[in-house]
Amino acid sequence: MDIEGAVAIVTGANRGIGEGFVRAFIEAGAEKVYVGARNTADAAHLVDNFGDRAIAVALDVTDGAQVAAAAEMCSDVSVVVNNAGVFTDRLLIAADDMSGARQEMEVNYFGTLAMCRAFAPILAANGGGAIVNVLSAAALVDIPNMGGYGPSKTATRFLSAGVRAELADQGTQVTALIVGSVETRMSAHVKGRKEQPIDVGRAGIKAIRHNLDEMDTDWMATKVRASVALDPKGYERRLAELLKADVLDTGR
Ligand SMILES: NC(=O)c1ccc[n+]([C@@H]2O[C@H](COP(=O)([O-])OP(=O)(O)OC[C@H]3O[C@@H](n4cnc5c(N)ncnc54)[C@H](OP(=O)(O)O)[C@@H]3O)[C@@H](O)[C@H]2O)c1
Repeated sequence: MDIEGAVAIVTGANRGIGEGFVRAFIEAGAEKVYVGARNTADAAHLVDNFGDRAIAVALDVTDGAQVAAAAEMCSDVSVVVNNAGVFTDRLLIAADDMSGARQEMEVNYFGTLAMCRAFAPILAANGGGAIVNVLSAAALVDIPNMGGYGPSKTATRFLSAGVRAELADQGTQVTALIVGSVETRMSAHVKGRKEQPIDVGRAGIKAIRHNLDEMDTDWMATKVRASVALDPKGYERRLAELLKADVLDTGR
């Protein structure tokens, strides 16, 4: 699929990887990008920068009415990037309650599903188009001190396959993007090498152009995939040992 002249919508686009996607789409020649933001004022810097090629849209993906309104407003879209996500940093058992795990499912899984359902008819009307779901290496193997985050991303990886199959007849391609570690607010507590958000956006565009079902955006995602392939249970055990030794550095 060509990006030149395409119209895209990106959720959670006011900062981080979502903003990286907006910048990468503009760079690649997209005609227009709808910048999904819970608070449209937070998207002002992109609107100011790109003029009528960046349009702010009020969009909380857990709010059904806002998702429906966005679909009505953005009926010319042919690319949907489900990027909005949360990591609540709550363990599965040790957390006081399940609210963190529920929020991760609400935003990361159900928010993505709501967007796919709302925009599927629009993509069909516009020639098929593409959906990109921004996932994580935590969708390939559970990272034990990330609580409900990995399960929500794994569920969304399976969702990606299901939506791909259901929309195949209308010609909609669906990419599951496996992302490692990126320099954003979500990963502010994580040490070590991190990618730049725009490079994840560029990788996502490459995946769209080549109609890839799944793509690793960076070295860490590839390394995790290789480790899982080599020795899945051993790798899982090693990660669990790191949690026990409290040296897996996610800032807890
Ligand atoms: N950073 C990493 O290392 C990394 C690695 C792998 C995967 N990812 C994934 O990449 C995606 C983007 O993360 P990021 O690193 O860019 O994080 P971020 O800087 O924390 O940005 C998250 C974005 O999601 C938005 N958001 C949160 N809840 C939302 C909701 N209910 N509806 C709509 N938007 C919502 C936020 O909006 P507000 O500004 O209003 O809060 C913000 O725009 C996520 O899906 C994340 O899981 C990140």
